[in-house]
Amino acid sequence: MSRVLRVHPQFPEPDIIREAAQVLRRGGLVAFPTETVYGLGADALNPQAVARIFQVKGRPAYDPIIVHVADLEGLAKVVQEVPAVVHRLAERWMPGPLTLVLPKSPEVPDVVTAGKPTVAVRMPAHPVALALIREAGCPVAAPSANRFGHTSPTRAEHVLADLGDAVDLILDAGPTPIGVESTVLDLTQDPPVILRPGGAPREALEALLGPIRVLTRAVTHDEVRSPGTLPRHYAPESPLWLFTGPREAILARLPRVLADLRAQGRRVGLLLPQEDLDALAWAEDPEVVAVSLGPEAEPREMARRLFDGLRRLEGRVDVILARDVVPRDLGLAVRDRLHRAADRVIPLEE
Ligand code: TXA
Ligand code: MG
Repeated sequence: MSRVLRVHPQFPEPDIIREAAQVLRRGGLVAFPTETVYGLGADALNPQAVARIFQVKGRPAYDPIIVHVADLEGLAKVVQEVPAVVHRLAERWMPGPLTLVLPKSPEVPDVVTAGKPTVAVRMPAHPVALALIREAGCPVAAPSANRFGHTSPTRAEHVLADLGDAVDLILDAGPTPIGVESTVLDLTQDPPVILRPGGAPREALEALLGPIRVLTRAVTHDEVRSPGTLPRHYAPESPLWLFTGPREAILARLPRVLADLRAQGRRVGLLLPQEDLDALAWAEDPEVVAVSLGPEAEPREMARRLFDGLRRLEGRVDVILARDVVPRDLGLAVRDRLHRAADRVIPLEE
């Protein structure tokens, strides 16, 4: 098994950070917490180390990796130039759950960017991640620390479950505070385009930049600019049925779907806002497992609970029932991940 070291999420122990940084400098892989999800890190300037990330994750070589830096100086080293708009964004979002796509500097190896002329770069707002990058003294390439195609890890246990002993070291700082991945913002297009909604809400970015386009799903493989936007990327192991449409219509339909599935002897998981669970009569059935996303009015709470909720249900139930949520604030990212995880999208009318 991989070595797991507990580390304080606010005040990381310097000796642990030193040890982890040394693993990175020697070309090893370190899983570490960020404010969004756990990342699987390697020295971004070491092509062999980065190649191991792809191998360990089972990630296709065409899917580029985000480079993590600790400050604007670090950012300037991996991009061709720093456009003025970056400073406007940085004031609020660096560090933060915002990834910028910009033309890359020649120093960044092709394996990191999957041969693209652009690099995705972000400055994570997590004391452990920042300390690790600083101590390593290099930019850190890190995708989410999950098996390719699986849900991103929000706890060290998730990393261990997915990547077992393939990682040299896992830093465990407890659950990640945001729970969905960073917003990927393409600044090479004008106006900028959100390639993946995430921890930095669209509304907040538009307040700084004006209207931006959001790309939530790639249609065909050829059109993929950001391969993480492939529809089935975040698939859990138990099929998920996603109901869309007015909440009343969904709540009217769910008891029947639930009853039908139970009559077929299938175990059912519910992944729903708390108020929906309160409204449904399921509590008596031991073969129904309910996971609450918290109140729909609190999209940040839903984001925090989403991936852990999916992981708690997968494998334990035969079908997961979920519904679309209001795409306000982090609700947009929650909606996006639910759609990617869905095997069936079931639209209901009034
Ligand atoms: O919150 C996060 O972003 C986490 C933490 C660990 O930082 N990382 C993460 O990485 O989610 P990953 O590899 O799972 O997703 C990175 C996304 C993918 O959709 C990838 O295709 C896209 O960023 N991406 C990376 N480089 C890109 C580039 N040069 N152009 C367009 N998209 C890029
Ligand atoms: Mg990922």
